[in-house]
Amino acid sequence: MQIADVQDDIDRVLLTKEQIEKKIAEVAAQVDRDYADKNVLLLAVLKGAVNTLVAFSSQLHINAEIDFMSLSSYGDGAVSSGKVTIRQDMSVDVRGRHVLIVEDIVDSGLTLSWLMALLRERGAASVEAFALLNKPSRNKVHVEVKYPGYEIPDEFVVGFGLDYDERYRNLDSIAALKPKVYEGDHS
Ligand code: IMP
Repeated sequence: MQIADVQDDIDRVLLTKEQIEKKIAEVAAQVDRDYADKNVLLLAVLKGAVNTLVAFSSQLHINAEIDFMSLSSYGDGAVSSGKVTIRQDMSVDVRGRHVLIVEDIVDSGLTLSWLMALLRERGAASVEAFALLNKPSRNKVHVEVKYPGYEIPDEFVVGFGLDYDERYRNLDSIAALKPKVYEGDHS
């Protein structure tokens, strides 16, 4: 039996595993310095930011608490609706906490700006963000990302937590898919 391989659907790798790890290590070193005297709370947005959170938190030397939130910002398809709803809320009270949001990608920026405003409203002492990827040409709102990762072109990407139709999250690189995948042809 031939084993299916997610690599077969990849058109082009935009960022290799090594490039991703390098950037995450750089950001972790910066965060170690910036939060040396703070009890940081890392908040990852499910599910896409999970890979980034794991890689990032394991590079940190400071003590970091971890929490999750599940948000839905897209209607159907790949176009942001701008309306964000909470699917699953975090379990920690953020009042007085120094929260660092860990995000996979900033596309329109609507999800992240909405989340930052929510956490401030809930009384967090500080709210900053690390986003592994950003698509500047797609940004609809300005979001202050203190720890930016890589800028990528306006292209739909998968891997390292990012999915297309719940698939390809387990790729260890960031990649663009072959057009046939979107056409529903998996042969
Ligand atoms: P925003 O609110 O438009 O910035 O959307 C951010 C969310 O959209 C991310 O957390 C991802 O879940 C999803 N997203 C945006 N662009 C991509 C992409 O290229 N591939 C996979 N998911 C994406």
